[in-house]
Amino acid sequence: MAGFKTLDTIGDIKGKRVLVRVDLNVPMADGKVTDDTRIERIVPTIIELADKGAKVILLAHFGRPKDGPDPVLSLKPIAEAAAKVIGRKVAFATDCIGENAAMAVAALKDGDILLLENTRFHKGEEKNDKAFTEALAKNGDIFVNDAFSAAHRAHASTEGLAHNLPAFAGRTMQAELEALEKGLGNPVKPVVAIVGGAKVSTKIDLLMNLVKKVDALVIGGGMANTFLVARGSKIGKSLAERDLADTAKQIMIEAATAGCAIILPVDGVVAWEFKAGAKNETVGIDAVPEDGMILDVGPKTVEAINQWIDRAATLVWNGPLGAFEIEPFDRATMAAAKHAATRTKAGKLVSVAGGGDTVAALNQAQVAEDFTYVSTAGGAFLEWMEGKPLPGVEVLKA
Ligand code: 3PG
Ligand code: MG
Repeated sequence: MAGFKTLDTIGDIKGKRVLVRVDLNVPMADGKVTDDTRIERIVPTIIELADKGAKVILLAHFGRPKDGPDPVLSLKPIAEAAAKVIGRKVAFATDCIGENAAMAVAALKDGDILLLENTRFHKGEEKNDKAFTEALAKNGDIFVNDAFSAAHRAHASTEGLAHNLPAFAGRTMQAELEALEKGLGNPVKPVVAIVGGAKVSTKIDLLMNLVKKVDALVIGGGMANTFLVARGSKIGKSLAERDLADTAKQIMIEAATAGCAIILPVDGVVAWEFKAGAKNETVGIDAVPEDGMILDVGPKTVEAINQWIDRAATLVWNGPLGAFEIEPFDRATMAAAKHAATRTKAGKLVSVAGGGDTVAALNQAQVAEDFTYVSTAGGAFLEWMEGKPLPGVEVLKA
């Protein structure tokens, strides 16, 4: 991969201690991992390093501990889950620095795997503190970052270490960067973006960046309502950030200047309560009843979106088109996702999607496997789509 140091150039690592930053910030319930996608993603890097005879030492955070060690946020149960997914033994150390970590590292044989406790149990992690970074670096000869999804954080284990040790992108980081390059960095045109989700406020920078880069921007979900308000449509009791109507106008002006088409809903599925199976009606976007709320875009809108997908060579997607977590308001998201998957399978489309809700929606549509690339990153994917440099990626540049 041009521009980045990858495992292809890591050299002879037999007997070397390789510190690998991974993202094990996985969903848990009752002490069990409920979705191990992020663990699956890091397997190739771990196996490759271990099979080359390295001592593989995993660094990761879990949750957002406020005040030092918190047993609820221990990585210990995740070490067990990781061992199952990787299919090898994963040792665990109860601290990521100091005596405890040093002893666990010293006990490793070539090819062994060790997970160190939550890096965020130390304040120095999030502060990217020099002394803490040095304490981490003591346990390694080489640093590999395989955690794209944490690369928007300039923390000791995501950014700092790359200054202390020779640093390389792991295979998942590499795959992510390559996919993102295809999506927005250097995409085949025309490029269509679908952005949905509840709020404009969390995605202003994203929308401003996208209108300059893509040929068409489809806006769905609750955030479309704010654009409809800005345009003067009546949307009844629909969720909208009315105070952001001017921002929405500004985004539409920027789009017009850049020659980016903005595609807003032409119809909507309206309900009177936010719950699964709620009584609903499909109406034209200018006929939303005063007491109703739009919970999904309608079939005419889906048709228009699918036509844009047909015209696109590249699709980037973040955010659902409607309240996909409750039926039947998942219809539009499911239909557009399936259409994009079909075009991708036919070799007509490069499709890149990311963000927690988006991944859940694509899984629900059973098409995640059919997309060109689905990022497991939330915040990092957004910041990357916003065109912002990610500190953890910047330090891996050759
Ligand atoms: C994530 O889950 O998005 C990453 O692991 C980053 O976690 P954070 O938002 O707590 O930094
Ligand atoms: Mg997060």
